[in-house]
Amino acid sequence: MTHSLWTIILAAGRGSRLASSTGGKCKQFLHHEGHPLYWRSVLTMSAIPELAGVVLVFPAHELDRCRAELENLKNIGDPGVRILAVSGGDMRQDSVRLGLAALPRDCERVLVHDSARPFFSAALVHTLLAGLTDEACGVIPAIAVTDTVKQVENDLVLATPPRETLRAAQTPQLFPTALLRRVHEQALAEGWAVTDDAGMIERAGFAVRVVPGETANLKITTPEDLRVLATPAPLPVPCTGFGYDVHAYGGNRPMVLGGMPIAGAPFIKAHSDGDVLLHALCDAILGCLGLGDIGEHFPDSDDKFENISSAILLSEVMDKARSQGLVITHVDLTVIAQTPRLAPHKTAIRGNVARLLELSDLQVNVKATTEEHLGFTGRKEGIKAVAVVTGARTPA
Ligand code: CTP
Ligand code: MG
Repeated sequence: MTHSLWTIILAAGRGSRLASSTGGKCKQFLHHEGHPLYWRSVLTMSAIPELAGVVLVFPAHELDRCRAELENLKNIGDPGVRILAVSGGDMRQDSVRLGLAALPRDCERVLVHDSARPFFSAALVHTLLAGLTDEACGVIPAIAVTDTVKQVENDLVLATPPRETLRAAQTPQLFPTALLRRVHEQALAEGWAVTDDAGMIERAGFAVRVVPGETANLKITTPEDLRVLATPAPLPVPCTGFGYDVHAYGGNRPMVLGGMPIAGAPFIKAHSDGDVLLHALCDAILGCLGLGDIGEHFPDSDDKFENISSAILLSEVMDKARSQGLVITHVDLTVIAQTPRLAPHKTAIRGNVARLLELSDLQVNVKATTEEHLGFTGRKEGIKAVAVVTGARTPA
C-alpha cells in the first residue's frame, strides 16, 4: 500500500461577508483567469509531485452543478490528479470532517486548504511537507502580525497579547490523516468550535509547527479583498520591425521617395508608384505586427494596386497597426543609391514620413548612402531602401 498525500479544498462556505459586492455569488465560484476561483487552488496543488488527489467540498445544493463544472474544467486542462467532489456542512469544521470521510484509506497525510486563499504557492506546500517530522503533529503557514492585537469584549479591551508572539495562520495546513480524523471525531463528540484545523490539534494536546506563510496568500473575505482579483491592465510589449526593398531603374514611374517626388532622378520599374522607401517602411511596420510582408497584403498581381500611391498602402498598414495597439516610437530609414544625390531631399522626406505616420520629425531619421560603385546600385541599375521601426504593442 502506498502512503499517499491528498488535499481537501474547502469550497462549501456561503461567502456572507462578501455577498453585498458579489450579488450573492459565493466567492469560491467567482470567475478569475477564466475559471472559478476554487480551480486555482486545484491547479497549484496539482504541481506537487507527491499529491495523489483532491477532495473538493462544495455546498450540498451546488454539488451536481459543481460536478458537471469539474468535468468541463478537466476537459479544458486536466490537472492529472484524482478529483472527488463531496457536500460540505454548516460550519467549516463540518466541511473538513465530510472531506476527511471521502479520503481513500491509504491517505497518510492531508493538506486542508481554504479555496478562499487562491494565491498560495507550490513552494509553500513543499515547505509544509518538509516540516512534518516526528516531532510535529501538524504544520501550518503563518505570518507575523503588524498591528497590535487586542482581545476585546463588549467594546472593552480585556488584554493586549505581546505582538512578537502572535502569528496570523493561513492554509494549506498539513496533518497526518489518522490524527486529524481522530481529533475531528473528538471535536464533534465534545462540541468544540474552532476556526482552523490546527486549533483542533492543539486543543487535543498535540504540537503544531509553524513555517513562514506568504503575504500574497490572502483569504478573500471582505469586499476590499476583491481588488486582488482585478486583472491588471496589460503592459505594452516593445517590438522592432525591419523592412527592405529594391526597385530597378529604367521603367516609366518618376521617382518618389517617402512620398516626395525626386525631380531629375532615373525612372523606376514598378507595379505601384515604386516608392522603395515607403515599401521598406510598410514591411518594417508589418514586422512589428507579425503580419508578414506587403506582398501578401497588396499583391502586384492585383490590378487595383497598379500605380497606386504608396502613401495609400502605408495608411492601410497604419490602420492595421492602430487596430493592433501598436504605438510607433521611432523610425530609422536608409536609402541606398549611387544616383540621384539625395542629400538635398532628406529633410523633406523626413518631414513627409513623420506626417504620414503622425509622428514628430524627431521620431524619424532619414539617411542616404552609396555603395561605392559596387553592385547593382553602384552600377546605377536600381535603388534600395531599408527601414527599422521600433514601438510598443499593447495586447488586446
Ligand atoms: N467553508 C466551507 N464550509 C463552510 C464554511 C466555510 O467549506 N460551512 C470554506 C469556505 O468556502 C472558505 C473557507 O472555508 O474557502 C474559509 O471560510 P470563510 O473565509 O469564512 O468563507 P465563507 O464561510 O464562505 O465566508 P463568510 O464567513 O463570509 O460567510
Ligand atoms: Mg465563514
